[in-house]
Amino acid sequence: MIQPADQITVTNIGPLQGTIRVPGAKNAVLKLMAASLLADGVYELSNVPNIVDVAIMAELLAALGVSSHRPEPGVLVLSNRGDLVPVAPYEHVERIRASVNVLGPLLTRCGEVRLSMPGGDDFGARPINLHIEALEAMGAEFKFAHGELHATCDRLIGAPIVFEFPSVGATENIVTAAVFAEGVTSIDNAAREPEVVDLCEMLVKMGAGITGIGSSHLVIEGVERGTLVATGHRTVPDRIQAATYLAAVAVAGGELDVAEARPEHMVNLLARFVDMGLEFNYGSNSMRVVADRRLRSIDVPTLPYPGIATDYKPLIITMLCVADGAGIVTENLYPGRFRYVEELIRLGANVRTTGHHAVVRGVPRLSGAPVRAHDIRAGAAMVVAGLAAEGVTTISGVDHIDRGYDDLVGRLAGVGAGIERV
Ligand code: UD1
Repeated sequence: MIQPADQITVTNIGPLQGTIRVPGAKNAVLKLMAASLLADGVYELSNVPNIVDVAIMAELLAALGVSSHRPEPGVLVLSNRGDLVPVAPYEHVERIRASVNVLGPLLTRCGEVRLSMPGGDDFGARPINLHIEALEAMGAEFKFAHGELHATCDRLIGAPIVFEFPSVGATENIVTAAVFAEGVTSIDNAAREPEVVDLCEMLVKMGAGITGIGSSHLVIEGVERGTLVATGHRTVPDRIQAATYLAAVAVAGGELDVAEARPEHMVNLLARFVDMGLEFNYGSNSMRVVADRRLRSIDVPTLPYPGIATDYKPLIITMLCVADGAGIVTENLYPGRFRYVEELIRLGANVRTTGHHAVVRGVPRLSGAPVRAHDIRAGAAMVVAGLAAEGVTTISGVDHIDRGYDDLVGRLAGVGAGIERV
């Protein structure tokens, strides 16, 4: 069990050196867990990170009728005995955004769902209109009252779905709903994130008929309810955590081997890191990075995959804070996602935000101070900022970091960072 710790202290005590192994992706495993609602049986998920969000999702699934346990580190076993209760209660749902991913599986399996409106990170409105409109096109009916969405359907009917935006969550919900729909569902402008691919690959192992995986045009051929089978699956490595360790060495200097990472899932980001002055050598499931000079500034927009993910942005802004020159970062997904900038300014960064843009003028070093983690990725960025600062940076709000990072402190301490939980 992860013990909630109050604070993390970070001090730059020199370059980083060694190997960091990247765990499985939070944004994949939570969706794999939700997919276990589709078929009875026992699922063994491996490469599962030890993070609080997995525990919260496990509690939500337990309330819905799927029990789970962790027989050994990295493994999560889920048991679906078929007696599902399709009611996702507020006390679980409000804690985690990915809880919305139970909507598709429950609706298609049970013909009914009651779902409290989901919570998650604190960075502005996160609507689910695309999920609802697509499910309505497949024959579902929705009522909303008292903070709860009530969805009903007979068997869903395959339909051509065209998303106005390639939403990760909506793509995942429609794919999982379509596996038991009558006939063919096609999704145009589908999200192509590696975590969406991971979910589709698990569904195919379970017996779902999905083609176009990894492209923006997915086709799902529905099968009868009851024909899918439980399966085992290894969670795709976490590209955001990999990027976090790259950002750490970028500002602290040094040489790192990032193991069990998939460079092919990070092509655009790595190209931009090269532009900033990092050097890479790639293996099939790893990369070596050398950071031996001051970073150069770049301009970056966030975009759906394969563009630069919004989840990388706090890390990139933190790197720009100590880079040579000025860079502009444009947020195209979540306009409100700049709250941590106030914290960076407390550390002496020169950042101005207007609307969707942040203008970052690099300074040689930040200067350590107490700061707060406002969400998962912003929390990781504060740790990176601490490595870019003179003196001690003390980070509170560590519970946010624990939601998505598996032993961030231990992993960084293991390669020579001055970092501690207190
Ligand atoms: C997922 C990730 C999150 C990541 C994001 C983008 C999880 C739990 N979260 O979030 O970490 O930052 O992908 O890669 O996996 N939108 C609508 N209507 C909808 C759905 C989305 O307007 O029905 C908009 C959102 O407001 C946002 C954009 O589409 O502007 C992206 O949302 P989406 O791709 O759905 O992200 P999430 O699945 O919420």
